[in-house]
Amino acid sequence: MKIAIGSDHTGLALKEVIKAYLDSRMIPYEDFGTHTPESCDYPRIAEIVCKAILSSEFDRGILICGTGIGMSIAANKIPNIRAAACSEPYSAILSKRHNNSNVLCLGARVVASGLATLITEGWLNASFEGGRHERRVDMLTRIEQRYAIPVVPHPVKEDDTNPLPTADAPVSDN
Ligand code: RB5
Repeated sequence: MKIAIGSDHTGLALKEVIKAYLDSRMIPYEDFGTHTPESCDYPRIAEIVCKAILSSEFDRGILICGTGIGMSIAANKIPNIRAAACSEPYSAILSKRHNNSNVLCLGARVVASGLATLITEGWLNASFEGGRHERRVDMLTRIEQRYAIPVVPHPVKEDDTNPLPTADAPVSDN
């Protein structure tokens, strides 16, 4: 199993804790940023990590922001991503067994590092149960397809494509 991991500035410290846990289990991962404490926008990180998962090079993703909610909303905009923001292990485990979640979102301002590690552990150890849950997950995919907007060239706002902040980038807000 290979993990794509990312956080905004609020999740930086917790991301290091989760990376240390992955190291301890010898689970390979790649950190897609952010890498500095400067304020950055969570939707950009969510998109980068989810694109990595869709490339099939990574099996699952872990996204960390202040609450886990912004990351999960952003990730769930992307077809075939099923992101679950979890604050305890039970939901995280069930999100894999029943919903086949492929992204776990954690809130660095919500869960302490010990609990976040237990949540991650439970989620990584869980497997999709299939059966009736497969039918329901297939229904999720069909909802996605019903509301899919045909792909046409569209303008991308400059803010959406700016590089991630570097150590000397100005901090605008939090
Ligand atoms: C950043 O202040 C915060 O809004 C972000 O980390 C996240 O919690 C959004 O959902």
